[in-house]
Amino acid sequence: MTSAPQVTIRPERPGEAAAIRNVLDAAFGGPAEGDLVDRLRAAGDLVLALVAVENDAVVGYIAWPRLLIETPRDVRNAVALAPLGVAPSHQRSGMGSALTRASLTQLKENGERLAFVVGDPLFYQRFGFSLEAARAFVSDYAGEYFMALTLADDPPEHGLVRYPAPFDGLA
Ligand SMILES: CC(C)(COP(=O)(O)OP(=O)(O)OC[C@H]1O[C@@H](n2cnc3c(N)ncnc32)[C@H](O)[C@@H]1OP(=O)(O)O)[C@@H](O)C(=O)NCCC(=O)NCCS
Repeated sequence: MTSAPQVTIRPERPGEAAAIRNVLDAAFGGPAEGDLVDRLRAAGDLVLALVAVENDAVVGYIAWPRLLIETPRDVRNAVALAPLGVAPSHQRSGMGSALTRASLTQLKENGERLAFVVGDPLFYQRFGFSLEAARAFVSDYAGEYFMALTLADDPPEHGLVRYPAPFDGLA
């Protein structure tokens, strides 16, 4: 008799960059997202990065880079979900959702106030991300895929969303 494989979600550990890279390259069918993660990690721009692990193999990954929200009065912190990838062999079994939900719980505990994502509203709205919540923000990504989610009281309500340098030229 075989039992269902156990999936663990936990923070990325040192030494897992190559395994994460493989998952992202396979999930996205190319190197762009893996390259982005390598640059974000090297620059220290990641607030949170979680892996989904099954039988000691990384099969899913989610990264949360730091964003800055600038207004004429101040600069405040936010986070971006970018990217989320699940190995093709493991897609549509709840892993992407589990990685997202675990992250949001952790980010709230850490005191983060606002999150953005650029993605398919059909997928991300189930976690509370909304197009409407992003409309007051200025960004190169603004449009039909740019969503926001409030994580705490007193979030930034408008401003210019600054992505870290590894995103330069990607929007
Ligand atoms: C998108 C992705 C992260 C979702 O993870 P997953 O583990 O496959 O998804 P889950 O099993 O948690 O959720 C599946 C649900 O999301 C929906 N879904 C999955 N991928 C979707 C997509 N690209 N667009 C819209 N809906 C999607 C499914 O229809 C399913 O809906 P249901 O629960 O109502 O049946 C994963 O499929 C993936 O890595 N895709 C390739 C890379 C990518 O597009 N990443 C997202 C952009 S950052």
